[in-house]
Amino acid sequence: MASARAPAKVIITGEHFVVHGQPALAAAINLYSKSSVIPSLTDTIKISALNLGVEATYKPTVESVKTSTPNAQKIIEPFRLLINEILNRAKIRSVGLHLKVMSQIPIGVGLGSSASTAVSSIVALARFLNLNLTTEEICEVAMIQERLIHKHPSGIDPTTIVHGGVILFRIGRPPIRLTPKRNLCFIIGNTGLTRTTGDLVTEVSKHFGEDEFEMVSEEVGRITLQAAEAYEREDFKELGRLMNKNHELLVRIGVSTPMLNKLVEASRRAGALGAKLTGAGGGGCIVALSTPEYKDRIMKAIMDAGGQPYQVLIDEYGAKHSDLDQ
Ligand code: MEV
Repeated sequence: MASARAPAKVIITGEHFVVHGQPALAAAINLYSKSSVIPSLTDTIKISALNLGVEATYKPTVESVKTSTPNAQKIIEPFRLLINEILNRAKIRSVGLHLKVMSQIPIGVGLGSSASTAVSSIVALARFLNLNLTTEEICEVAMIQERLIHKHPSGIDPTTIVHGGVILFRIGRPPIRLTPKRNLCFIIGNTGLTRTTGDLVTEVSKHFGEDEFEMVSEEVGRITLQAAEAYEREDFKELGRLMNKNHELLVRIGVSTPMLNKLVEASRRAGALGAKLTGAGGGGCIVALSTPEYKDRIMKAIMDAGGQPYQVLIDEYGAKHSDLDQ
């Protein structure tokens, strides 16, 4: 048996514009997915998405996949593609295994649940098949699933999740891991409204090349670089101010919603150093930066405003295998 776990992620600044080449700042957070691979005596592959109650079985040499319910296909297909890719890389044609995936990360709300389950599955599968993958290769394989689900992802989700900590990300460049300092206190506020990242990215991308979009894009790029510097010198007040500024620009490109704005306002009034939507927007979550003394007030304010609050910490480890946990 081989197991692995991978964290969720939160984007601190720069979402959407990162798809168009701007830098973004993201953190791995301590909500996890866990995948395990156990051997099977027949040459059958079984995939179980345990918290969705979905299962599928198939033979790697045969295309047809038997799923537990007709709409399970959509959930299973990304994992089937990952397994195929790993088997190809390991030069294995026929194998019997059971991949079990479990996650505590809310789905479809911008916390990287698909990238996290992809990464924990890749790490567990590679471990099971004695295949050595570099962090870049793990991200590369995860992008197969990310492209299927999110259409034109930047790669920030799997990269953050694989590396852990706080990273400054830019397409086509190695991520820069910022030196861990005092752990930041983040409160997530979930609107509970799910949305499709790929559709939002496509909608926003239609404005790529327009003067106003380019101006906002460059401003967000500058905000991210300043936010990275503020984080490194532990100037959390400045980091919060930059998050607020970033939120206003996300409002301007139309990806915020009244509920997201309500949670952002409630968090700021309750003492957050800064608050903004996080991820693609259109529903999903906000992230508020807090000092330890205000966190309970912010959690309560989010709840009173109709959101679900979670207090999260930065995960410093990223994806890792954990063969000993059963
Ligand atoms: C998703 O976590 C962040 C977006 O910028 C999309 C991406 O970068 O892939 C909206």
